[in-house]
Amino acid sequence: MQGFADKTIAIVGLGLIGGSLARALRGANPGQRILAVDNDPRALQQAQEAGVISEACELAAAAQQADLMVLAIPPLMIETLLPELVPLLNTHCIVTDVGSAKEQIVAAVAALDPDFRARFVPGHPIAGSEQSGFAAARVELFAERKVILTPIADNDSASVALVHEMWRGVGAEVMGMSVQRHDQVLAATSHLPHVLAFALVDSLLQLKESDDILRYAAGGFADFSRLASSDARMWADIFVANSYATAKVLDHYIDYLQQFRAGLEARDHKGMMEVFRRAKKTRDDFIARHYQKDSSTEMQAENISLEASPGGKLSGEFRVPGDKSISHRSVIFGALADGVTEIEGFLEGEDALNTVAAFREMGVTIVGPENGKMTIYGVGMQGLKAPRKPLYMGNSGTAMRLLAGLLAAQNFASELTGDESLNRRPMNRVADPLRQMGADIQTAEGGRPPLQIKGKPLSGIDYDMQIASAQVKSCLLLAGMYAKGRTRVCEPAPCRDHTERMLQGFAWPVNLENNCASLEGGASLQATTIDVPSDISSAAFFMVAASIAPGSDILLRHVGINPTRTGILALLTQMGGDIQLLDEREVGGEPVADIRVRYSPLKGIVIPEQQIPLAIDEFPVLFVAAACAEGETVLRGAEELRVKESDRIEAMAVGLKTLGVELETYPDGIRIVGGKLGAGDIDSQGDHRIAMAFAVAALRASGPIRIADCANVATSFPGFVELANQAGLQVSQQKEKSP
Ligand code: S3P
Repeated sequence: MQGFADKTIAIVGLGLIGGSLARALRGANPGQRILAVDNDPRALQQAQEAGVISEACELAAAAQQADLMVLAIPPLMIETLLPELVPLLNTHCIVTDVGSAKEQIVAAVAALDPDFRARFVPGHPIAGSEQSGFAAARVELFAERKVILTPIADNDSASVALVHEMWRGVGAEVMGMSVQRHDQVLAATSHLPHVLAFALVDSLLQLKESDDILRYAAGGFADFSRLASSDARMWADIFVANSYATAKVLDHYIDYLQQFRAGLEARDHKGMMEVFRRAKKTRDDFIARHYQKDSSTEMQAENISLEASPGGKLSGEFRVPGDKSISHRSVIFGALADGVTEIEGFLEGEDALNTVAAFREMGVTIVGPENGKMTIYGVGMQGLKAPRKPLYMGNSGTAMRLLAGLLAAQNFASELTGDESLNRRPMNRVADPLRQMGADIQTAEGGRPPLQIKGKPLSGIDYDMQIASAQVKSCLLLAGMYAKGRTRVCEPAPCRDHTERMLQGFAWPVNLENNCASLEGGASLQATTIDVPSDISSAAFFMVAASIAPGSDILLRHVGINPTRTGILALLTQMGGDIQLLDEREVGGEPVADIRVRYSPLKGIVIPEQQIPLAIDEFPVLFVAAACAEGETVLRGAEELRVKESDRIEAMAVGLKTLGVELETYPDGIRIVGGKLGAGDIDSQGDHRIAMAFAVAALRASGPIRIADCANVATSFPGFVELANQAGLQVSQQKEKSP
């Protein structure tokens, strides 16, 4: 099979970017055939003397021979060149560019031959500097730098994958973005700073005494004006190509300066201090991150606490964020599929975003998520690349356990790590059965993460799970897709079946009988479209909130009501909750409904054991419902709750006791006596669901509830505080930097 090193690469333009790419490609693959086209014979000669190109060519010769052509010339030149280039190209050559503004280039491509459009994959390495020309080219220019691909609708996965592979091969981290978002982002972070640098220098020049002034210019001037040394032609091109987005951020900046000027005239020392402090912190954090190579420490989160004021009622219609379980799985299956998978409603929470980052690290091009939309250019079952660093799964047990199954079967080694909470969670429940399939997995002491995985050929097994865990089931089915023969997983009680449903959505046959799911290894996944419903586990906070706050009446839109997830509906209804499912429908293989919830006095219940896996994530907020209900609620058989993001029985018991609730805990459950709730300070123990549950409790508390350690709310429910306030809770958020 032909590998990337066997491809002929043509670079048009041997400036800083094109020259550095030639150097880097040569460094990575000394045997690679690299053709170069440039108007400047000196650049070609220098590159040849440096041994980084195989041949200097005319455009036509390069276009005939190349497998991949990189247009490393300014944006307006690309537009002029394209109509000339297209008829010269051989029929398989993929073309990409490096332009810093994409919309105009993409518009120019839209007018060209459809066959060419499928093969033009726009790209942008964010690695330039004020230097230009081949003389400035450096072999390591792209190492650990971001390259943004902005694939267009006509692109197929194979074209995108080839461009991805090239940039990955020179050490870059390849991201995906929509064309519009790219241009907006770059206008703010790159084009505006260039305007300011050029403008500062030029405006000083226009001052009468400019010579004299510039004589005294020193470090500050040098630092700020560095970008004004950039190539004039290229930047005039970029501003013309991205005039609209740049003008927009410039308008904002001009308004800002006017405000600042007013503060200056008023000698507003305090106001300026505030601005400068804020800016300094943002810049310091950015620099720390920018030069920070180890992603596992990226999440040095701020310390966020919540304060929920007592009372209030809920009203209105809302859509809570996308389902976390389905979002994780959509990335996994989309990445492994053949073809392009389009996703809507994706959860833009940290857990799911870490899964996206992991697949990017394994060479998958993923565009977005932007407003819940995401496009995944599948690499096929055998297309993942060895990660270059440990894969950081943050707070997510689901991501770690599912990926363990997948990675066990790859032909490379990998490491899975997580945050403090995840690194305490048990992994032998997946490592043991995976080892039975032939996997080579090392855990840290006590079966905890990090996991060291050496990919191995696996064989299918028949596995009877001791616990009803969808994570274990999904992990084994993912491993089973690669295993020889049949993998069959049986569960002691029904637990969420999103993996089985999604496998079928991606056209992989799954056999479901009684309480077992089985599949044969060795098939393939066909890309599809996915509409992720709202997460019933996030909706649960509002269901309980509306149930306990007198006068409440809310409608939660587009909530997933998969029968393996509806324990919260059954239990709240059993407690006397007033819940109505409206417009029940099926969306992409998952049942969905709008859910109306009205206040209703609740009563305590004995929780039926078979409901536990169906409501496994909802117990923190159900305990709040129990504390507000009349009588006792008893839960037994739920020891699993002790190994979630926190020990949820303990964390809730301590918190509820602080609020004066009478309760008793057991190794496998809790007994809660409903009554009045007081005020108090709660430690969420870094568990998102504990934090949100206590924010809901404030609706019935006698005073404020302050909740510490809430940064992880963002793992599953970005925008919780805003939505809660919109609905009628009164929650404020305080941020301070972690020590
Ligand atoms: C999940 C399964 C459940 C659940 C978790 C998500 C999944 O865990 O608690 O939040 O997406 O498969 P277990 O399988 O460990 O019960």
